[in-house]
Amino acid sequence: MRKTLYWIEGDGIGPEIWRAARPVIDAALAAESDLRLDWRELLAGEKARAAEGTPLPESTLAALRGAEIAIKGPLGTPVGTGIRSLNVALRQGLDLYACIRPVRHFEGLETPVKHPERVDMVIFRENTEDVYAGVEFAANTPEARKLAEFLRDSLGVTRIADDAAIGIKPMTESGSKRLVRRALRYALDTGRPSLTLVHKGNIMKFTEGAFRQWGYDVAAEEFADLTCTEKDAVPGRLVVKDRIADAMFQEALLRPEAYSVLATPNLNGDYISDALAAQVGGLGLAPGVNMSDSLAFFEATHGTAPAIAGKDRANPGSLILCGAMLMEHLGVPAAAKRIRAAVEKAIAGKAVTEDLAAQVPGSRVVGCREFGEIIGENL
Ligand code: NAI
Repeated sequence: MRKTLYWIEGDGIGPEIWRAARPVIDAALAAESDLRLDWRELLAGEKARAAEGTPLPESTLAALRGAEIAIKGPLGTPVGTGIRSLNVALRQGLDLYACIRPVRHFEGLETPVKHPERVDMVIFRENTEDVYAGVEFAANTPEARKLAEFLRDSLGVTRIADDAAIGIKPMTESGSKRLVRRALRYALDTGRPSLTLVHKGNIMKFTEGAFRQWGYDVAAEEFADLTCTEKDAVPGRLVVKDRIADAMFQEALLRPEAYSVLATPNLNGDYISDALAAQVGGLGLAPGVNMSDSLAFFEATHGTAPAIAGKDRANPGSLILCGAMLMEHLGVPAAAKRIRAAVEKAIAGKAVTEDLAAQVPGSRVVGCREFGEIIGENL
């Protein structure tokens, strides 16, 4: 059996982290399954600009529109091309509405908290609405004044000062529900104990508060037999609960073991994804996937690290762990386990890339290539 995997090399450290990661991904799959990947490269970023004169060729978007799985290295933000961010252009162009980040600790990695092993969460962050679809007007511009005037004169909103900067934060029922639906399915499929809706509905009742309500509605309307609320808990069912965002940040530090899958609007998810990644040892080992209804697009979550590009100093861990997520997505969880165990063993063996060295006391710094080889041997 073969499956087509589209891949984008990425800019900066992209080529070297790929050289380290790809053999690990192929070997892990081969060890656990008859399935093989047909790697098909798509151009984006600097490589595409050099070959085709644009950082995001239409041929790349067209291939991704018909794809089931794809994976990318980091892409730099192009300067002076009219594209604000390639990543945002890809997310919007492909309607990748769910950004999914698993967060767990790797033994042997020192972290800012005493018990990072208590964190085992998967964040589902809405990826197309809220501040990502936001509109802003700068203070003291004719547009902002006009809007303040309209709000005052037509809608009776008098508390917005004439010199205010104004931001608009759109969130829809359909957009919120499809995100929560996806998170619920994942939580149920993987036997997770709970799903928490993270919102700021105490202050923003009709956006954040609605997100919370729409979340509970999807659970009640579509998963009634499989879910329950915290108040009416039924043993064996997935507990759907909610937390106000600021309380969630406290809880993540004080009682992380009480949380499993999180479903969040865009901005809350942005904050909590990085905070939780730091809690378990930083972004260097954080994988992620952006999903539409048809495509799972895995990506290294860090940037292009231009200062160390081409110097064999980068950590390929994020991309390698994207490979583990891909294995789960392909229905080969044993290969995912194998990859994670191999990374853990590399850390236990105290041979790590320089970005991890301070977190692994007594470690020896190895290059990107060697780190990949060690993980490959550990498989
Ligand atoms: P960055 O993530 O590239 O770098 C931040 C710091 O982390 C630097 O010190 C860098 O050396 C280090 N670092 C990052 N990844 C590393 C790795 N795998 N191994 C070792 N060290 C690593 O973020 P920065 O500097 O803000 O952005 C650089 C470029 O990357 C920009 O053009 C930005 O737009 C782009 N970017 C792309 C992302 C993506 O494609 N998903 C995400 C974030 C930034």
